[in-house]
Amino acid sequence: MFKMKTRSKKRLLTGDRPTGGLHLGHYVGSIQNRIKLQDEYDSFFIIADLQVYTDQIQKAKRVGENIYELMADYLALGLSENNTFFIQSQVPELAELTIYLSFLTQVSRINRNPTLKNEIKMYGTKSISLGLYSYPVSQASDILAFNPDVVPVGKDQLPHIELTRVLARKFNRDYSNVFNIPKGLLGDTPILVGTDGQDKMSKSLNNAIFLSDKDEDIHNKVMKMYTDPNRVRATDPGKVEGNPLFVYHRLFNPDVKEVLDFETRYKNGTVGDVEVKKRLSEVLIDFIAPIRSKREKYIKDKGHIDSVLKRGINNARMVATETVSGVRKGLGINYGDKFR
Ligand code: TRP
Repeated sequence: MFKMKTRSKKRLLTGDRPTGGLHLGHYVGSIQNRIKLQDEYDSFFIIADLQVYTDQIQKAKRVGENIYELMADYLALGLSENNTFFIQSQVPELAELTIYLSFLTQVSRINRNPTLKNEIKMYGTKSISLGLYSYPVSQASDILAFNPDVVPVGKDQLPHIELTRVLARKFNRDYSNVFNIPKGLLGDTPILVGTDGQDKMSKSLNNAIFLSDKDEDIHNKVMKMYTDPNRVRATDPGKVEGNPLFVYHRLFNPDVKEVLDFETRYKNGTVGDVEVKKRLSEVLIDFIAPIRSKREKYIKDKGHIDSVLKRGINNARMVATETVSGVRKGLGINYGDKFR
């Protein structure tokens, strides 16, 4: 673990699949936390393009465009360009490390991974690829190649972090002490409920408000939002807890007194849903409009995004190359430059 000591800052690594633009759920669930942590940690953000291919190879043509959308959202939300942003496929050392780690991975352990089990259930056992089946090992490589101290993720990713830790310990014990044992870090904001009030906000469930949404889209989504289904008239006492109107007000309305006042009046049946919604629509528009205009500027300046990624990829490759070289040595795949 000699490498750790020379670091002036602890290292953080996390990332996303580039499946399109981000929504409010991404913001409160993870990006906000990253913004908070980015100064304290040397931060690495992986854009996991190959992970998209594990289950949507037919959609993979859009991945390149999605990477710009994602980068524009990151930067518009306030992640600093000085962080290391990199694309998974552009760091081939990760693929090499995946092979090595696959030798240390028991199939029975993969079979027990609850997150993967859920995904397999969604696709039906017959149609899944070996690439999907083994992606937890690939994700362990995404992490271990950079020897981070912390990996901030959502709860569903914890089984992958656990596998990562198991593989790191095993390698250190049986071959060579190459890996730091990273810790998963859960953010303090829970999963954000979608506009349907039923499930977590998610692109595929059609219950999301995106950072790219226009003012009138935001307004329409808010006006159609699920509230307390038992409330027929504005004079009926309403339920505040778990009501997405108030979940969003609490998170995005800077006027805390107004929110409390709405809540009291809602419970007492002295304010209508429409009034609360109209105000929420303004609040969300105030929040999203400046981000949207920034992201539009970034999207137009692809050259700038390219330069941020190029710098990130270079840095990521440098770090990963060193790790993988230690792994090769540990395994005895160590021919030096004899064959060059
Ligand atoms: N699986 C993560 C997701 O779906 C993306 C990801 C890939 C990731 N590699 C990672 C997250 C490494 C944290 C660390 O969002």
